[in-house]
Amino acid sequence: MFKRLREDIAAIRERDPAARSAWEVLTCYPGFHAIVLHRLAHGCWIRQWRWLARFVSQIARFLTGIEIHPGATLGRRVFIDHGMGVVIGETAELGDDCTIYQGVTLGGTSLTRGAKRHPTLGRGVIVGAGAKVLGGFTVGEGAKIGSNAVVVKPVPAGGTAVGNPARIVVPATERAADESRKTETGGFCAYGITPNADDPVSLAIHGLIDHASRETQRIDDIVAALERIGTRVEALNGIDGAALLDLKRLSEAMEGEAAARR
Ligand SMILES: CC(C)(COP(=O)(O)OP(=O)(O)OC[C@H]1O[C@@H](n2cnc3c(N)ncnc32)[C@H](O)[C@@H]1OP(=O)(O)O)[C@@H](O)C(=O)NCCC(=O)NCCS
Repeated sequence: MFKRLREDIAAIRERDPAARSAWEVLTCYPGFHAIVLHRLAHGCWIRQWRWLARFVSQIARFLTGIEIHPGATLGRRVFIDHGMGVVIGETAELGDDCTIYQGVTLGGTSLTRGAKRHPTLGRGVIVGAGAKVLGGFTVGEGAKIGSNAVVVKPVPAGGTAVGNPARIVVPATERAADESRKTETGGFCAYGITPNADDPVSLAIHGLIDHASRETQRIDDIVAALERIGTRVEALNGIDGAALLDLKRLSEAMEGEAAARR
């Protein structure tokens, strides 16, 4: 039991820069108190002492503002930061190392008794302040839920879901990595527009930019090919990028350049 408490405190100190000492966590962190009392309530629940379990959970709610149904299953080192207004439903399951902020609901959308009504969070999931995750689906390992998101569908492992209803986005850090990968291969991710953004205007702009990028690449290839066969492109009088793609104008310009060389 003390081992568990120690690892809970260590996890909080690791994940909250505001936590200064173990004593502070022990005495001033409602998320910590709620988890400890939930363990007691859950112990009663699985022994079929259902009323006592609910009563302990109710006391925890009164003291901390965090309502965890005693039937919910919590992994190790789960951290509920601030915690006020958190509601975790009966069939919710939280993997190890999950972090939950204030105002989060892990709720249900069906009234079927005995069914899996609440979400399962994989290991290391972070749920931002005020987010609602509603339904008996799974949020994959390491996923992040944005603050105030309303998630009604499964989230893939490592995914980031934001908005209402939540959509999966590509975080800036991944976009930067993706952009540098594309640059290495000659591609271009203009303005870092999220490729899977829902906005049709953004999608249209992205399509146009991709098209322009492909055309630029073609021009570069043509120039390289011309230089390989001995044509000095800068000597092609009056020829511009668009004309390079117009084969008739290009051959006329090349003939002119050849004549000048003779
Ligand atoms: C969702 C979250 C985890 C994403 O962080 P990240 O991985 O660094 O991703 P980014 O900041 O690059 O954001 C990716 C996109 O999602 C958008 N976004 C981020 N958080 C959002 C949110 N909560 N709601 C709506 N959109 C959001 C960004 O604007 C960005 O959009 P863009 O692609 O159009 O530019 C983070 O923004 C978040 O909400 N964390 C919760 C923090 C919290 O609750 N703190 C409480 C402390 S008390």
